[in-house]
Amino acid sequence: MTGAGRPVPAEAPAGLPAGFAPALIAWQRREGRHGLPWQGTRDPYRVWLSEIMLQQTQVSTVLSYYPRFLARFPDVASLAAAPVDDVMALWSGLGYYSRARNLHRCAQAVMKDWAGAFPQRSADLATLPGIGASTAAAIASFCFGERVSILDGNVRRVLTRLLAFDRDLAQAGPQRELWELAQALVQPDAEADDMVAYTQGLMDLGATVCTRTRPSCALCPVQDLCEGRRSGDPTRFPVRTRRLNRRFEAWWLLLIERPSDDGHTEVWLHKRPERGIWAGLFCPPVFDSREALCAAVPSAMAELLHDGDAVAHALTHRELRLHPVSLQWPAQADAPGAAASGQWVRRDQMTQVGLPAPVRPWLAA
Ligand code: ADE
Repeated sequence: MTGAGRPVPAEAPAGLPAGFAPALIAWQRREGRHGLPWQGTRDPYRVWLSEIMLQQTQVSTVLSYYPRFLARFPDVASLAAAPVDDVMALWSGLGYYSRARNLHRCAQAVMKDWAGAFPQRSADLATLPGIGASTAAAIASFCFGERVSILDGNVRRVLTRLLAFDRDLAQAGPQRELWELAQALVQPDAEADDMVAYTQGLMDLGATVCTRTRPSCALCPVQDLCEGRRSGDPTRFPVRTRRLNRRFEAWWLLLIERPSDDGHTEVWLHKRPERGIWAGLFCPPVFDSREALCAAVPSAMAELLHDGDAVAHALTHRELRLHPVSLQWPAQADAPGAAASGQWVRRDQMTQVGLPAPVRPWLAA
């Protein structure tokens, strides 16, 4: 599927709308988002943390996680020195847990390889774990005024519309070309403050005006420069042929609960493998069928299994249907498969371990 919009010259910054950057910067200062907790600072630790949290998570969610994380880990040294399980616990509920593991690895790399100070150039930042080209550019432009462009999903949408760029972004060549065009749109003489407003402006425009469906073109500060709008249907852009194929899977989770010696209730949790879905988090044992789950409990107890309501949970490449099955277990008896890497965790202490978001309601005190 390729749109039939105006072809964009591959190497012609001269053909790019020169007024784009000044108009965007002025609009951001006037009408963009201000006062978010990660704005108004040039501390790369704080900016880096916010950018990682915001990668796949909405601002409204990050607003509660961000201050909690900073209260526990106020700087890169404290984060690097912490056990990774503490980091996972604070990340619990934000999803995409490889971000949290990379966050920890990145903090350790900054301590070890950069003497505890984040590098300032986007090219160096992009060598650190979990920091891709766009995040590196965000940190370098926000904190150090580097004249580099970000290009995340929202900005890809803004720029392909602006330029009526109709080449297929599922291909490496067009992706590279769009990066070059994004870079060519940056004002070559922008001051550090201008770069802050420019980068934030790209983000704000994508989030609030140039939205995926029904963009508010009448409110757009660059509507007169926008080739996508001129074409009559800006939502034709971006063009991407590859469809995300979500695989469907049913998971059966065994929630084993027993009374503890001191009058509490505890639940048996496994630590998920270091790779794959919910990697490194604590979770009730998972089975791929109810039969497999039944086979894991003593046959005398199979009748005591209680089926809860299933919930759907979408991940990037999977559509999960989660079936909770609970079982009351005798005090002091070990859980089945107790030799596997599992442990009893008190219900009232669940918030201290990293749990996948969809299972938390089942385990709450
Ligand atoms: N999404 C990614 N980075 C962001 C930022 N700095 N402000 C708002 N939303 C964002």
